[in-house]
Amino acid sequence: MNQLVEIVDRNLEMMVNLALEHVLRFGLKYGIFSRLANGMSYEKLLSAIPIFNKGYLKRLVDTYISLGFVEESDGFLSISDLSFGLNLSAKDLEKLFSDWVQIVEELYKMADYAFISAEHPKILMDFDKGADFWDMRLLMELNKAYRQLAADLLGLEDGMNVLDLGCGSVSPVELGEAVGPNGKYVGIDFSPGLLSIARTRVRNARMDWVVLREIDIRKFVVKNTYDAVVISFVLEYLENPGVTVKKAIEALGPGGKLVIVEPFRDNYPKIAALEFFESLTKEFIRFPSCKDVIVAIEESPYDVKVEPVGNSALLVTRLV
Ligand SMILES: C[S@@+](CC[C@H](N)C(=O)[O-])C[C@H]1O[C@@H](n2cnc3c(N)ncnc32)[C@H](O)[C@@H]1O
Repeated sequence: MNQLVEIVDRNLEMMVNLALEHVLRFGLKYGIFSRLANGMSYEKLLSAIPIFNKGYLKRLVDTYISLGFVEESDGFLSISDLSFGLNLSAKDLEKLFSDWVQIVEELYKMADYAFISAEHPKILMDFDKGADFWDMRLLMELNKAYRQLAADLLGLEDGMNVLDLGCGSVSPVELGEAVGPNGKYVGIDFSPGLLSIARTRVRNARMDWVVLREIDIRKFVVKNTYDAVVISFVLEYLENPGVTVKKAIEALGPGGKLVIVEPFRDNYPKIAALEFFESLTKEFIRFPSCKDVIVAIEESPYDVKVEPVGNSALLVTRLV
């Protein structure tokens, strides 16, 4: 299990670093850094840069501010020294998957595409219209690794009853297999496109213990039912992730476990670079902070134990 934690964390770190390298590339390519070398008002910069999608350009400049590359004071922008480096040991390198690189390269292209027009800035990574692209993302080795980590942390085994919030198209078969025909897997998701892909896989695998429901997570209510609840890479699409986390704990029976998998922003200091690209999905808000999620968990009326696992997972056990 420790090996899986390391694999997930190292790959996410690398993904953040590549995103960082790419947002810096945009700064060079569109002449943002050269214009800022002597300082400039925010407004003047936005009109000077030849990008039509000013909303997304603003997001890029705000990303530089969050990353500490650009400073803003009273609407005036100035640039700090840029430094960027990678430091990877041979042990880290052996943990890196290569398949997600092609996927993030598509995100970089989508970002460039989004710059072209003032219209439709957020149509490029739609969970529904772009379900096939999302499905490709969810099939990557990294995604398989974090779902395996979730299953291991929950101790999923034959006969267990599991609820997956924002299940996507791949987890239903993978986690459904872990609980087997004596168990039950319930996946909820609001994307008919992703659910349709999931249903085809479930049908082909003849897994009639896997139930899929088209529901918005913000509307689900279940009490004291499940042995395990999974929330993986979903909280970043919710305005108030704490509400969902509390409802997930409520869905557990006594002794049940909840696993949350996310690149928690307090553990990935350069996460704003990746967020710039993830914001191409219109529902994307921000990756949650581990601290805030723990506060929400501790506000739950149930007696719980919380254990951080590496930089990207939290395991919550409902004690009674
Ligand atoms: C990045 S994918 C992760 C899928 C899956 N949990 C996994 O890790 O393989 C996010 C999923 O959350 C779903 N989702 C996002 N917001 C949702 C909401 N408010 N209600 C239901 N599903 C939601 C999306 O449709 C998508 O399937």
